[in-house]
Formats: sequence, structure tokens, C-alpha cells
Amino acid sequence: MIDSHCHLNDERFDSDRDEVINRAREKGVSLIINIGSGYGFEGNLKSIQIARENAGYIYATVGIHPHDAKLFNNDIERKLRKLIEENRDIIVGIGEIGLDYHYNFSDPVVQQEVFRKMLYLARDYDLPVVIHSREAGDDTFRILGEGKNNLRGVMHCFSGDRDEALRYIEELGFYISISGVVTFKNALKTVEVVKAVPLEWLFAETDSPYLTPAPYRGKRNEPSFVEYVYRKIAEIKEENIENVERIIDSNINRLFSTLTSPE
Ligand code: NI
Repeated sequence: MIDSHCHLNDERFDSDRDEVINRAREKGVSLIINIGSGYGFEGNLKSIQIARENAGYIYATVGIHPHDAKLFNNDIERKLRKLIEENRDIIVGIGEIGLDYHYNFSDPVVQQEVFRKMLYLARDYDLPVVIHSREAGDDTFRILGEGKNNLRGVMHCFSGDRDEALRYIEELGFYISISGVVTFKNALKTVEVVKAVPLEWLFAETDSPYLTPAPYRGKRNEPSFVEYVYRKIAEIKEENIENVERIIDSNINRLFSTLTSPE
């Protein structure tokens, strides 16, 4: 099992981060992708540091989250490029980036501008993108389509319906990532997405510390809980869990060019 998306750089892990990482290893999580964006520019530095301390087990992505789009400027862009150039061995993607019209913490026009800048960054360094899209489906799809010849990536915590999911796969070749939301009682739409999307196009993630799956809803989420996402996908697909793990893990390894550590 791989946790393809978490935020171990969140301050909610400051007091017991090493224990959380050890628990993930013990529970059979073979690889973790830690998402750097969403905590200002500094969140990227912390994400890289955590990956450095756990080399070969944790990899990092960097970027500017749509919530932080208003903080972006040329200086931040220069710093991001330098960061990528100096840490090519542990940075495996740009993300999470995209659009969030639910909160609109940054002006939508500014969000779109910064989103495009992040996509240029991904193209310049030949890195995959991790996309956050909330209540912005049409604009996200359109902007990604502008550069479809060179982009590859994943729709993180996918919240659209089955037709949207299939459109991302067929027209952009993007993977669809499923979070703990799929275990919630009211997750009918996400269950339909899992049914409709072939296993070869699915990812699993926790998005921890957010979106804690059942039976731990209400608690802080952590990478070891990714097990419940895999289990639920296997149940919906009526497939055995080993098969589901093998296929999803190879999808994740393929996109991020990572290899599962031998443990
Ligand atoms: Ni996230």
C-alpha cells in the first residue's frame, strides 16, 4: 500500500511525527508521497526536510496551493525553481495545485494565473502534477487541457461524478485519486466513480490529517489509515485486496517514477 497524498508537514504532526511514520511502516505502507503546498512557501521546505529524513520511504511534492495563490510572486517562483533544482532526488511532483472556488481564499483570476505558472513549472522540470479542484471543475479541466500535450498527473481527492472522472482519463490521461471520503455513508457519488473507473486509473490516498476514513472519523487522519481506502475500493470492485494493491501501487509508482522500497 502507498499513501499517495498526505500532509505530514502539518503542525498537527509536530509532536509525534516519527511515531506516525513508524506506524505507517508497521501497517504495511511501503511508500509515502508528502504534499508540500498548502502551508505557504515554508510548507514546501518542511515537506522536503521530512522526505530527506526518511529518504527512500517518503518523497515530496512542492508548489503553491490555490488558497495561497495571493502570496505568489516572482521571488517565490525563483525560490521554487531553486528548490526543485537542488532536490531533484526527492521531489517527485508539483502539487497540490489547482483551483478552489469553494473558499476563494485567493481571487479566482489570481488562482488561475498561479495555476498556469505551476503547470509551466511542471513542464519545465518534466514532473507530474497533483491537482486540487473544488467547485471549479470546468475551469480546471479547461486549463489542464491547454497544456495536455506535455502534462501528466492525478486528480487528488476526486469529488466529481463518474462522467467527469472518465473525461479526465480519456481526454487528459489523468489518474483519479480516492480518499477516505469513499468510506463515508453519504459517499454515493464517489462509490459510483470507483465502480466506473478501471483499477488501472485509480490512486489511493489519505490526505491526512484531513478526511479521516471510517471507522476513525473524527480522529486525526494518518498515512497508516490508507488501508481503509484500499479495502473499500476492493469491496466496491469485488476484487481481492492483493490485486487492488498491486495495480494501484504500480499506477502511483508509474506517475511519480518512484520504486516501492523492498520492506
Ligand atoms: Ni491535500
